[in-house]
Amino acid sequence: MEKTSIHGMWSSRMAFVLAATGSAVGLGNIWRFPYMASDNGGGAFVLVYLACIALVGLPILMSEVLLGRHGRRSPVNALTDLVRELGASKGWIGIGWIGMVAGVLILSFYSVVAGWTLHYSWLYLSQLFGAAPISDPGATFSGLLGNPLELSAWHAVFMVLTVGVVALGVEKGLERAVRFLMPALFVLLLTLVIYGATTGHLTEAMAFLFKPDWSQISGRTFIDAMGQAFFTLSLGMCTMMTYGAYLPKGVSIPQVGVTVALADTGVALMAGLAIFPIVISFGIDPQGGGPGLIFTSLPHAFNTMPFGIAYGLLFFALLSVAAWTSSISLMEPATAYLVERVGLTRRKAALVVAGICWIVGLATVFSFNIWSSVRVPEGVRVIGNKNIMDMIEFVANNLMLPLGGLLIALFAGWVVKRSLLKDELNTLPPGLLALWRWVVRVIAPLLVLAVLISPFVLD
Ligand code: PHE
Repeated sequence: MEKTSIHGMWSSRMAFVLAATGSAVGLGNIWRFPYMASDNGGGAFVLVYLACIALVGLPILMSEVLLGRHGRRSPVNALTDLVRELGASKGWIGIGWIGMVAGVLILSFYSVVAGWTLHYSWLYLSQLFGAAPISDPGATFSGLLGNPLELSAWHAVFMVLTVGVVALGVEKGLERAVRFLMPALFVLLLTLVIYGATTGHLTEAMAFLFKPDWSQISGRTFIDAMGQAFFTLSLGMCTMMTYGAYLPKGVSIPQVGVTVALADTGVALMAGLAIFPIVISFGIDPQGGGPGLIFTSLPHAFNTMPFGIAYGLLFFALLSVAAWTSSISLMEPATAYLVERVGLTRRKAALVVAGICWIVGLATVFSFNIWSSVRVPEGVRVIGNKNIMDMIEFVANNLMLPLGGLLIALFAGWVVKRSLLKDELNTLPPGLLALWRWVVRVIAPLLVLAVLISPFVLD
């Protein structure tokens, strides 16, 4: 009899693809990717990022899914079983712990930013019903950031939405949500791209995104691009391992892996094409927009564009939906772990995880107002002078995710037996299997390692 997960199973290949794409496509694609590209000079960053996805992201994505499917439990327990089966060092179980801590840290700030998108959806919805337009977008955004009560309230609303889905379980919660939300997301995005392309400066936006300006490349570009590749594919924190645990045995892992990586990359590029034509046509410099890029520059455009209010509402609704399907996946590993380990009901486990993330998230909320002067000391390498949110984000995205991914690649490449790999990846022809194994053994770890240590030796 085929081993299944106690948490339930995806009902089909499609269900997994939707859920994993839902996890991958999120704020990382629509909020973070555009401003990362903007801050790193556009095309050159995009190229390095695409290389990271292909050479490191996809092979590690496949590793996570196969480890999860073999183990059929939450990451820490799946790894515990695997280590026992292989007679390997218990140290490898640490991958699951890094993942769970990174998940809580990421969800803590993710939910705060998702709260901004809910707030903006609300602002545009009320404008449709006659509320005054956002006359000074910069002031509106800094007004929101300056108000800890409002920020933590939206942060709470978003957490409640997430718990609402996770508490219902794999089939009734996660799968049902993505079946409905992912098609909606795609239609919204397509509408926005077509509208952006016909109203804004498409050619300049394409040049900005796809024409590399090599003078803009630095050590920072690589670490940012690698961090972004991990973040956007939800890698390095065992999310994909957890989703893999619910994947039926007959499904081809390489095939679904490629589908998810392509869909995720496609959405990031489309988001760029929905945003930059408008940013540029309003005379805003696409470079150096920072995290506020879409919240401060786009509302200028929405005020004067034909159907701008409706466009604004669609845009922020899209972001909220994308964030929702990702945060579900951020919560699932720790929730599944609590169910297995402590025997909590799923509902209670989800509430505990959400409560912890909400409280940790207050550090992000306060980093914009009452704690805004708290900074990492100037002299500290790489993270010197960052505020609390930037520090948490950097440590989780740019250090913990690549570190987790590096260990996952080494574990799958060197420790897991060839026969197990062959069994899980049985749809790969022998030549490609050998290539994949070589990549996770040598290429991906070397690239990730180089990127991980670069900020400490460069500069
Ligand atoms: N991939 C998500 C995004 O791009 C974020 C995420 C990271 C989700 C890690 C799960 C795990 O927004």
